[in-house]
Amino acid sequence: MDKITQPTIVKITKIINEGLNYKTFVFNYPLEARAGQYLMLWLPGEDLKPFAVAWKTPDKFALAVLKRGDFTAKLFEAHVGDLLGFTGPHGTYYNLTGRKKILLIGGGSGAPSVTFLAQEAGQQNIKVDFVLAAAAKEEIIFESWLTAQGVKVYHRFQDKKYEHAWDLITDLINKNNYDGLFACGPELLLKKIVDLSLEKNIFCQVSLERYIKCGIGVCGKCCVDNSGLCLCQAGPVVNNHLANQISEFGKYHRDGSGQKIYFKQ
Ligand SMILES: Cc1cc2nc3c(=O)[nH]c(=O)nc-3n(C[C@H](O)[C@H](O)[C@H](O)COP(=O)(O)OP(=O)(O)OC[C@H]3O[C@@H](n4cnc5c(N)ncnc54)[C@H](O)[C@@H]3O)c2cc1C
Ligand code: FES
Repeated sequence: MDKITQPTIVKITKIINEGLNYKTFVFNYPLEARAGQYLMLWLPGEDLKPFAVAWKTPDKFALAVLKRGDFTAKLFEAHVGDLLGFTGPHGTYYNLTGRKKILLIGGGSGAPSVTFLAQEAGQQNIKVDFVLAAAAKEEIIFESWLTAQGVKVYHRFQDKKYEHAWDLITDLINKNNYDGLFACGPELLLKKIVDLSLEKNIFCQVSLERYIKCGIGVCGKCCVDNSGLCLCQAGPVVNNHLANQISEFGKYHRDGSGQKIYFKQ
């Protein structure tokens, strides 16, 4: 697939309000990308930030954005017809080879990465159950879109620590013979999923969010302790074994200045 390293300018052709805090931006552009990969989205005059591809068709693609700080607030002010830039697709992607029945888990701003995977799995006739987890009802996205594609959707919200989501996930894993677990979301939840997959010997991939500045392995902002692996290229999607070799996984990440931010238990 051709990798775009020079920014490409695209026009927003549709904006969908998914809820109070989520908007989907649709672009008419034949993007070649795989589920799990991300684009560096350039908002002229603001910044360049990473967003996973949420779905795509042969001539369109979409990014689903959770409003969090300055960049996403500014993006929420954009209108249909506005021009944005992107580079990518960057990074690794999920691997569905040999899977027949899978559980997808998407939480908070991590949900779009796995909604695209649900679309890819549907095209390969793989049976999909999907847990959508969010801190608030307004952050539950794509429920009817997923259901329309034959995906069985479960959701849990109003649960900042994702404890209810974890109860649901363990229950589903114990009752179903999943041959793959795929997840993107709060890292403490990802850590539990990785540990359970290793214990039960289930194929598992997770997408890890680290601070990404360049997306091309140059600046070192996304490097993880203690291997120094650059997750902008060696990730964001990693398998359970690699995730557990990253010593900071489930403990802390770094902000844009390099300072450690510990995940709150
Ligand atoms: C591979 C990847 C895919 C992502 N996909 C999506 C997506 O599909 N939808 C979505 O809503 N969000 C996604 N994000 C998160 C998104 O990049 C941040 O929410 C966004 O950059 C926040 O910017 P802000 O200025 O609005 O908020 P800020 O107040 O600056 O930050 C809010 C949070 O976002 C994190 N963040 C800020 N800048 C970056 C950056 N350059 N790289 C990584 N994290 C950052 C901060 O550490 C903080 O935790 C993804 C992140 C990564 C790494
Ligand atoms: S973000 Fe620059 S090296 Fe990964």
